[in-house]
Amino acid sequence: MLRFDNVSKAFVDEESGRGLLALRNVDLSIEEGEFICIIGPSGCGKSTLLNLAAGFERPSRGRVTLDGKEVAGPHPRIGMVFQEQSLFPWLSVLDNVAFGLRNAGMPRAEARSRARDMLEMVDLARFERTRPSALSGGMRQKVAIARTLVLEPEVLLLDEPFGALDEQGRKHMDLELLKLWEGGGRTFLFITHNIEEAIVLGSRIVLMGTNPGHVKREWRVDLPRPRDLFREDTVRLRKEISRSLQDVLAECGCKRTELLAPIEIKDMEIRT
Ligand SMILES: Nc1ncnc2c1ncn2[C@@H]1O[C@H](COP(=O)(O)OP(=O)(O)OP(=O)(O)O)[C@@H](O)[C@H]1O
Ligand SMILES: [Mg+2]
Repeated sequence: MLRFDNVSKAFVDEESGRGLLALRNVDLSIEEGEFICIIGPSGCGKSTLLNLAAGFERPSRGRVTLDGKEVAGPHPRIGMVFQEQSLFPWLSVLDNVAFGLRNAGMPRAEARSRARDMLEMVDLARFERTRPSALSGGMRQKVAIARTLVLEPEVLLLDEPFGALDEQGRKHMDLELLKLWEGGGRTFLFITHNIEEAIVLGSRIVLMGTNPGHVKREWRVDLPRPRDLFREDTVRLRKEISRSLQDVLAECGCKRTELLAPIEIKDMEIRT
């Protein structure tokens, strides 16, 4: 459904004017209905990969396609939920969720009615008149997800959407997200730093390596749901992924939280 074919992405560093290679030769083929979790060290190009899928960026080489057609810009079949807060603080929860529909020309009453259904689904119907500032971080992220889902994207891209929540909040949101995924034929691409989260959620886990960013390893996760992190086979998988991530970190000689500098490139055409 969504494919990365030999995708490389270079940026121009504004200060030095040098070309910087963020991704090299990424091949990734995503089937309809998959829940892909992407893990990898900071700076390995995870957000860049999502931005390419969303059509916010274009590959420098290779192709990103949705059902065989090149993703040439933001696309109604693909929705993105960002890590940072992206709600409009001056609008109510309901109008935040209805915003995209209104923007697409839908009459106010219909847009609000659909937004209400979506708020019902994420269990926030009683907060429709509230402003985002009065909600908890987890609730705000649910509104952000509702705002994207109301546009009915087939592919949902989530860039560490729960990174700012505490562990309890994150676990709660993971379960909510699973309900949405299990509820109907959507394809999810989810970035996380957390291996346990990836195992609870993913039908496939993709580990990225660095310098420049590339797909290092993949695991298909066929464990029964709801996932029990302490089952023997789950523990084995956790250890295996953890070891591979350590290898990636050792290869680039960095700790998990450091931001890596992409390597310089010389001969790649840069299409920005
Ligand atoms: N617009 C840009 N201009 C220049 N360099 C960029 C741009 N976007 C990303 N990069 C560089 O590309 C590399 C990959 O960045 P990216 O944000 O995709 O990493 P990431 O894996 O999402 O990291 P994190 O886990 O910290 O979010 C980084 O070295 C970053 O500095
Ligand atoms: Mg990122």
